[in-house]
Amino acid sequence: MKASKSLIRDFGEIEKLQVSSKGPGDFVSSADKRTEKIIIEELLKAHPDFGILSEEAGTINEQNKNYRWIVDPIDGTSNFLNGIPQFAISIGYEENNEIKSGLIYDPIKNELFFAENGNGAFLNNSRIRVSKKNKLKNSLIGTGGPKSSSKLKNNILLEFLEISKKVETPIRKFGSASLDLASVACGRFDGFWQRELNYWDIAAGIIIVKEAGGFVDFLDNSSDESKKRNLIASNSLIHSELKELIEKKNIENY
Ligand code: IPD
Ligand code: CA
Ligand code: CA
Repeated sequence: MKASKSLIRDFGEIEKLQVSSKGPGDFVSSADKRTEKIIIEELLKAHPDFGILSEEAGTINEQNKNYRWIVDPIDGTSNFLNGIPQFAISIGYEENNEIKSGLIYDPIKNELFFAENGNGAFLNNSRIRVSKKNKLKNSLIGTGGPKSSSKLKNNILLEFLEISKKVETPIRKFGSASLDLASVACGRFDGFWQRELNYWDIAAGIIIVKEAGGFVDFLDNSSDESKKRNLIASNSLIHSELKELIEKKNIENY
């Protein structure tokens, strides 16, 4: 809550900075760091010896492989930078490399998504579940990327085109992967896929989708979940249809 208050305050400043000639870039990176600092301080206060992997700060207490927090202080930075209210704080918690709980907080909508292994997923105080749609054609699908630096950029765009042709409602690209996963968990989206993600974008979302009855899958071969970058999440009913299409493109082999 402390971190989100600082984030809301900073978001309020963005409008003023957008019209300045320097632009809000530097301010945003300091907002990112400010939020991260508060989160890390609180996490260390609660458990001084737990490991932390955080987007800006990197690793803390690296030797502790058994208990680890995975933090993205602002997921949706470009939205934040442009004054678009679609960003979140994302915090996952792992024990022995297995995600045990996750929290995604959208401070603008005051929506707190939370899940704990075996105990279901919640939005604020209400239990959430994935949607029941069972045909890809009628589904609302989200995605993100590609990054401008991506070597697979063209192929990722071709993949987007391919999937676009199979759905009646145009694919959504909202610019915050954690909130995209939260949207799958509460049934706003029926599915989501994205390549070249970072672990801090998705660690919390993975458990929230699973606990809401959804299915999370990867296109990577690595057995280590934290090293997987290419994710498909769905309500489980449309999963094979979506995955088959993506695998058919098999863009890594281009
Ligand atoms: C980004 C967002 C975005 C996704 C990018 C991520 P950031 O995180 O999650 O939706 O498309 O791949 O890097 O940079 O805003 O923390
Ligand atoms: Ca992110
Ligand atoms: Ca971030």
